[in-house]
Amino acid sequence: MLDIKVKLKEIRDLGADNYLLTLGAPEQARLIRPGQFVMLKCAGDLDDPPLLRRPFTVFNVSRHARSGKPAGLELLIKDVGTGTRRLVRMKPGQTLYCLGPQGHGFKISSGMRNRLEMACLVAGGVGIAPLYLLARDLMEQNVKPVLFYGGSKMADLVLRDYFEKLGMDVRYATEDGSFGLRGLVTQPFADFIDRNAHRNIRVYACGPWRMMQAVDRLSAQKNLPCEVSLEARMGCSLGACLGCVVRCRDRRGEEQYLRVCQEGPVFDSRLVDWETEPV
Ligand SMILES: Cc1cc2nc3c(=O)[nH]c(=O)nc-3n(C[C@H](O)[C@H](O)[C@H](O)COP(=O)(O)OP(=O)(O)OC[C@H]3O[C@@H](n4cnc5c(N)ncnc54)[C@H](O)[C@@H]3O)c2cc1C
Ligand code: FES
Repeated sequence: MLDIKVKLKEIRDLGADNYLLTLGAPEQARLIRPGQFVMLKCAGDLDDPPLLRRPFTVFNVSRHARSGKPAGLELLIKDVGTGTRRLVRMKPGQTLYCLGPQGHGFKISSGMRNRLEMACLVAGGVGIAPLYLLARDLMEQNVKPVLFYGGSKMADLVLRDYFEKLGMDVRYATEDGSFGLRGLVTQPFADFIDRNAHRNIRVYACGPWRMMQAVDRLSAQKNLPCEVSLEARMGCSLGACLGCVVRCRDRRGEEQYLRVCQEGPVFDSRLVDWETEPV
């Protein structure tokens, strides 16, 4: 894990309070795995408020145009409060501290090439963040990813072009019906796994708690393995403060509390106690 003062290279306003920040961070870009995150100091100086760093998943690794070598980190950031507002108001050329890569990402192995037919990726809003690098890795393993991407309205479905350019199958759903199917994203996902019940599918999800709970339930009904990327408020991100714990059950059903920053943020969905949402 590296703590580096990095330069903000670019910031793109994607609409609906979403921004894509590109950080010049080649060392960290080389190390990142799908589903891992970084902790950003939302100010140029370590002494400036807010004191605590904020966690953000790495959406993509930017590359040098000529050499193709990793150059930086692309982060999708939704402006929801003090820290994120400070971040999205920074100007290209400013510097900030970036700690990472952190946490355990999605399980992807070269063995999947022969065993897995398909992967269903289910995203709600900014929950799309960990799924782009994952989709790319799966395609490299010859696994076909199908993305189910939902939001309240069309403007919430940011960065669609990234996935469409990969040539992958993408199904959209919006609650107001402004794009794709009208309703919750879990509906097209449920229909899909119903129609493909005989296939060897693995499920990956990130989004609002209730969405992930529904994805876990639907996957369990079809006996499909499912991984979820969880969010919790973080203090230290180093495993010490226990501020980020989620209530889980081990394989024997015994209660246990796992730290999102250390054991996560990606968990086997069957282990999560979905009745106890982290505060
Ligand atoms: C592992 C991980 C990866 C994340 N990846 C992304 C990402 O790629 N893009 C992105 O936009 N956001 C991501 N988040 C959420 C992001 O960290 C929070 O939105 C951010 O910390 C809010 O900081 P703030 O100072 O702007 O908000 P605050 O002013 O502290 O709070 C504003 C609101 O945001 C809520 N909030 C604060 N922290 C979190 C949190 N950690 N999770 C959920 N809600 C929170 C508060 O309850 C409050 O309602 C991730 C969180 C985790 C734990
Ligand atoms: S944030 Fe401190 S233990 Fe996870």
